[in-house]
Amino acid sequence: MTQSPTLSDRFSAYADAVLREGSPSWAAAARGVADDAEVLALVERAEEARRQPVLVLAVARWLGAPLGPWPDLRRWLLDHQERFLDELGRRLTQTNDVRRTSPVSLALARVAGPVALLEVGASAGLGLLPDRYGHRAGGVRWGDAASPVQLDVVVHGDLGEVRLPEVVWRAGLDLDPLDVSSAADVAWLDALLPPGAPDRAALLTQAVSVARAAPPRVDRGDAVDDLARLASEAPGDATLVVVSTGTLVYLPGRRRQEFVEAVRGLGARWISYERRGLLHAVPVAVPDGTPDAESFAVLALDGRALAVGDAHGTRLWTTG
Ligand SMILES: C[S@@+](CC[C@H](N)C(=O)[O-])C[C@H]1O[C@@H](n2cnc3c(N)ncnc32)[C@H](O)[C@@H]1O
Repeated sequence: MTQSPTLSDRFSAYADAVLREGSPSWAAAARGVADDAEVLALVERAEEARRQPVLVLAVARWLGAPLGPWPDLRRWLLDHQERFLDELGRRLTQTNDVRRTSPVSLALARVAGPVALLEVGASAGLGLLPDRYGHRAGGVRWGDAASPVQLDVVVHGDLGEVRLPEVVWRAGLDLDPLDVSSAADVAWLDALLPPGAPDRAALLTQAVSVARAAPPRVDRGDAVDDLARLASEAPGDATLVVVSTGTLVYLPGRRRQEFVEAVRGLGARWISYERRGLLHAVPVAVPDGTPDAESFAVLALDGRALAVGDAHGTRLWTTG
């Protein structure tokens, strides 16, 4: 029987991943936690959903902890246990990864417009603006070529022409919506980014500037319980497209299935970019030769896989 990874395993795996992403300081911090029984016991005092390495490190950073060397961060964590746990208990992993709009827009291009876009787990709503960013895969371009946000995606496989439908309505749902107009909310989004990844911080700043020109609506609500209410506000003459990216992993298994049924019950189209293997409703055959890190997620339209890709949506392998 396979055993589920321990908390130490999770921090260790995160250390490897974040090192590959170019953040040696967070890699060292995550490695430090993974190997430290006392700090692991501290993190274990938080509820299961709050023990994610990225959230733990972001909360420490948010509260002003030294990011390294590890003995300094360790001392800070053990000296500020209650303050740290209190903040950790109030926060969710809300990284709003604009790069995922490239795969999402490739699926969106297959939907006839006009479109009403509804994202669950929208965070600050930066994913609601795929048409306000420019996208490029090799020589193929789509989206807004004049946008300050220009995203490159590597696509292995045939792409053809990509033309986005008109988006006439957009709104998001989140348990704890972030507001692009709020400096504190944007600072929290920034704190969630691994230090040492300046490209991601710059991209966030540019995307926030685009979003502030016409802030996307993000309502407080649950992906399952509040979906039909928000969907009922979408214009009836537009095709409703529900989007989920990097969000369903935060729902318990039973709730994920309820979400899929809720989307189907609405008769909506559904674009997902979620971890491979997470959803029974999204079976996928990984193309031969795809590296593990590039088959982390599956891009699907209505449950039918279109591609596999990395966690951030920057490298895709089409599935035919
Ligand atoms: C990791 S973020 C991903 C944000 C965005 N979809 C992206 O890809 O950039 C997950 C978001 O889902 C939200 N969330 C978690 N569980 C939720 C639920 N049951 N209903 C609505 N939102 C939820 C969190 O607050 C967080 O903002």
